[in-house]
Amino acid sequence: MSNENNRIVNRLGWIHEQFTLTPDIYKSIVKGFKEECEQGLNTASASGLATMIPSYVTRLPTGHETGTYLALDIGGSTLRVCAVQLLGQGQVNVTEVKRLITDPLRASSTIVFFDWIADTVAELYALLPEETRDDTSPPLAMGVSWSFPLDQTGISKGTILRMGKGFTLEGIDGEDLATLFLQAFQRKNIRVIVTAIVNDTIGALVAHAYSNSQTRIGFIYGTGVNAAYAEKVSKIIKLNVAEWQDSATEMLVNTEIDIFGNESYLPITRFDRALDASHAQPGFQPYEKMMSGAYLGELVRLVAIDLVNDKELFQGHVPSLFSEPWSFLTAHMSEIEGYPRDGQLVQRVTHILQFTDNYTPNESDVNTLLDICSMVSTRAAGLAAAAMVAIIEQQTIEPNEDIVIGVNGTTFEMYPRMPERIHEALEQWYGQDIAKHIKLEVARDGGSIGAALVAMLYQEQ
Ligand code: BGC
Repeated sequence: MSNENNRIVNRLGWIHEQFTLTPDIYKSIVKGFKEECEQGLNTASASGLATMIPSYVTRLPTGHETGTYLALDIGGSTLRVCAVQLLGQGQVNVTEVKRLITDPLRASSTIVFFDWIADTVAELYALLPEETRDDTSPPLAMGVSWSFPLDQTGISKGTILRMGKGFTLEGIDGEDLATLFLQAFQRKNIRVIVTAIVNDTIGALVAHAYSNSQTRIGFIYGTGVNAAYAEKVSKIIKLNVAEWQDSATEMLVNTEIDIFGNESYLPITRFDRALDASHAQPGFQPYEKMMSGAYLGELVRLVAIDLVNDKELFQGHVPSLFSEPWSFLTAHMSEIEGYPRDGQLVQRVTHILQFTDNYTPNESDVNTLLDICSMVSTRAAGLAAAAMVAIIEQQTIEPNEDIVIGVNGTTFEMYPRMPERIHEALEQWYGQDIAKHIKLEVARDGGSIGAALVAMLYQEQ
């Protein structure tokens, strides 16, 4: 190997070290997460942030429920409004109106945004059978899956906390979510009322429990990350335990684990710091910024640019896709890692990166880039597994009992070998014998189906 190649390998090797989750680092992350879980269960929300948020959902569906319920699922990029028909035996049928959330909408005012939501609900409403929407029948009940932090105070009530995911809606912080829906539906004359609000993780957990009763965790791994599980009511100190203890033993808790983490236990690199500094909400969601779909592409770009600047990658040429911050997306990275390792690889990668100065990457450039992508995505998988371990350890689980984790989200579902890599990290932690009982299953449409199920479970209230 030439001296030049040696130098690049050494430097990349050094960056690799910073991205590697050694068993000791792994232990301290799990410990840090567990301590934050305990702290969150004991502490009321403060300064607009909250973790370990009680959902007020104290029972799971059996899989036998039937009926049709409305659901609205709003995430970082998509709004879905659905009529969910529960068919029993864990089966559902969904009629859906889906809209992408544009950048101008994300930066609009609260009223404009909720009017747009109400217009989408009106579109679905118009598709429903006439007898369900005549003026003499009661308003239709709707469950909402909200993929943002919400300080929940009841099954259908909650105060909006900092939204994240690029939303800068004017006047939204501190608003009551149900009231915003109510007012927008009134403005648009729509006879629908919100009877349940769930975080998307709660939705995923409830929806997956409908099809598999061994589900213990709802996990979202897409643009953002988060997890929910059933906690003993006696441990949710901030809930006023005495009031709840007679009516329920467990309650689903939205961990908001995305917000967890600090330098004392997360292996934050200088690339993570640079990403955070260029973000609209620095310091917010440190764990999520190291591993979710909104960020992996930018992390790869930052590492790659570091090598490009020292002429250790692409001989110092900057491809168009790397020239602007946040322009190299996790979807690009996923595409690159997914390419077959054949004679066309260099050509494919060159096509995706686009060099305006006609530089043509060589095989070593492409291998270095692939190496960076795999380093960043493998650390992400390890970090996802660390959250799962911490949440499994919060619960009492019988030896040899299967632990089903219902996972929803594009990073989990679309990124090459992501489920396998997460499972490998679980195996490293638990050993194969125990890890084989942990089943990562896709909880597709968790938000909408889960919201509809909770609307059904709590309709009398
Ligand atoms: C939000 C959570 C949400 C998660 C997954 C995070 O950014 O704060 O509320 O559950 O993304 O969508």
